[in-house]
Amino acid sequence: MEVQHKGHDGGQTETMNILLTGGAGYIGSHTCVILLEHGHHVIVLDNLCNSKAASLKRVQKITGKNILFYQKDLRNKSEVNEILKNHSIDAVIHFAGLKSVAESVDQPLRYYQNNIDGTLVLCEAMQANGVKNMVFSSSATVYGNPSTVPIKENAPVGPFNPYGRSKLFIEEILTDLYLSDKSWNIALLRYFNPVGAHPGGLIGEDPSDLPNNLMPYISQVAVGKLPQLQIYGDDYETPDGTGVRDYIHVMDLAEGHLNALEKLASDPGLVTYNLGTGKGYSVLEMVTAFEKASGKQIPYKIVGRRPGDIPTCYADPSFAEKELGWMARRGIDEVCADAWQWQYMNPKGYV
Ligand code: NAD
Ligand code: UD1
Repeated sequence: MEVQHKGHDGGQTETMNILLTGGAGYIGSHTCVILLEHGHHVIVLDNLCNSKAASLKRVQKITGKNILFYQKDLRNKSEVNEILKNHSIDAVIHFAGLKSVAESVDQPLRYYQNNIDGTLVLCEAMQANGVKNMVFSSSATVYGNPSTVPIKENAPVGPFNPYGRSKLFIEEILTDLYLSDKSWNIALLRYFNPVGAHPGGLIGEDPSDLPNNLMPYISQVAVGKLPQLQIYGDDYETPDGTGVRDYIHVMDLAEGHLNALEKLASDPGLVTYNLGTGKGYSVLEMVTAFEKASGKQIPYKIVGRRPGDIPTCYADPSFAEKELGWMARRGIDEVCADAWQWQYMNPKGYV
């Protein structure tokens, strides 16, 4: 795939060449759409270990713009260096990583190796090529079990699984890098629960295995791929006893990356933002919303709690609103309608 240098300005910032590691994945592909629609040039590096190149073809179909795609592993020093050397990259959005909590408990070394080594290689290559603007995909999982909600960015951190710790370690590595050289500009974005899909049903979340997360699981029950949802516990201290989370539409999240890039252009140093909606919904509320959006019944069974789950987690996103001028605009009805459209139009994902 080739970049087309059509170059129209996206409003507030100059047209940028943006490298997206992991850009073929769920959040990356949606962010590609937003960046291309704002006139930026997108270069994707992804080894497709948890995604398909078809997602990028669909992005090109949605936007009518081209993407330059490198199917490479982020841990390959010379290749990452070549890409940074050969393109005049203005900023990197670093999505690439393994993200299953359960898998990280079984295979901690693989998780640390992939997520941390990949980041080190990327930072070295960026440094060597004088590219010092980075947006990093962190997670609300760094807060562990929060003592109060909504969660502010200065709340104590304490993830309790290898995946979450890999995110926190990377945040610390990037902080040390910034402290050693303050010409870096780094935005650490702590995502809450990304859900939904681009409206139109062409791109969405495509779990390669049995879904771990609630929304893709509900979608697959609705479309008849899975027989019923298991709800992990109804005895939490929440209004209906089921877990409460901050479900953020992936398009709102994708837009947050554009705001973060615009912030980096103003030379802010190292900054951390929660990207969430500020509202919490229970599992049962999400089931009801999905039934309404899809017109399908979602059979479910209450089972025991999932190890490592917390009762309640939602963001205080006011800092991002104040500093980035960003806020989530889409609610759970839109989340469910868009997730359903993607699932209904692509019952087997990108296959
Ligand atoms: P995803 O798995 O769909 O995308 C990650 C992409 O990174 C995949 O396309 C994968 O092939 C690629 N990748 C992984 N290791 C790589 C490597 N060594 N070299 C090159 N490419 C590699 O996941 P996503 O949901 O889009 O998440 C993107 C980022 O956001 C991840 O870092 C994830 O940890 C983080 N995050 C996700 C969520 C969520 O719920 N989806 C929540 C918080 C944070
Ligand atoms: C999970 C991860 C978290 C990661 C996030 C986004 C765990 C313990 N946490 O968060 O680190 O950042 O995904 O990728 O895996 N639920 C069910 N039935 C299901 C699936 C989920 O009842 O089949 C419930 C859960 O108990 C929870 C809620 O739905 O209350 C949301 O679960 P999920 O979508 O997996 O997200 P998190 O647990 O918040």
